[in-house]
Amino acid sequence: MKKPVIAIDGYSSTGKSSISKVIAQKLGIIHLDTGALYRGITWFALQNCTGEDRAIDFSRLFSALPQIRLEFKNDDGELILYLNDQNISKEIRTNEVSDHVSLVAKQKEVRDFLLQSQRSLAEKGGIIMDGRDIGTVVLPNADYKFFLTASIDERTRRRYTELLSLGIEADEQQVKENLIQRDRIDSEREISPLRQADDAIVIDNTFLNKKETIDEILSYLNKN
Ligand code: DC
Repeated sequence: MKKPVIAIDGYSSTGKSSISKVIAQKLGIIHLDTGALYRGITWFALQNCTGEDRAIDFSRLFSALPQIRLEFKNDDGELILYLNDQNISKEIRTNEVSDHVSLVAKQKEVRDFLLQSQRSLAEKGGIIMDGRDIGTVVLPNADYKFFLTASIDERTRRRYTELLSLGIEADEQQVKENLIQRDRIDSEREISPLRQADDAIVIDNTFLNKKETIDEILSYLNKN
């Protein structure tokens, strides 16, 4: 039997990736965190394509895209992101990357560059992909689509705790502003904006913990 293709979209820090990871383990399917791909390109741009003011020079980035090879390698069940053979899994979580990633993800050239590889990974089935445009653009024919949301204060708390646990210094108010700004840019951009697919199941997990959210998603998967 073909394993399912599952799309999980939603706002930043609703737990999409960590929840998808557990569901993938339970179902024996692959998990692809597509946000990490946009973060990888942003990290590359900050290293290689900035002007004197540290702003990203997009025309330089676009011409450098063919030189970027992003791969996930399996390290004891954990998928680690490599860019041109360098492990960048920690680098992509820094505040500098978070502050720039929505601007990078807004660019048509960047989205086109990542679209085909995301789609081809889903061709054989057996994948859960999380992002912003998975149910609407990347995998419109996914077997299941979920859209996660939660209050801004709860999402700020989660992101702040996550940063501290990664040993990254953070200011709670700044974390909140970054989330608000990212949600705005992601939702208002012209190409593939963050939007709930018409056929997505919406889950507001403001008052649900990780396990409860996972159980709710699994209850829909088990119905069929
Ligand atoms: O899920 P995340 O916070 O790691 O995502 C980082 C950024 O990448 C986010 O601001 C929006 C963008 N993104 C996107 O535009 N499309 C996706 N499929 C995934 C992420």
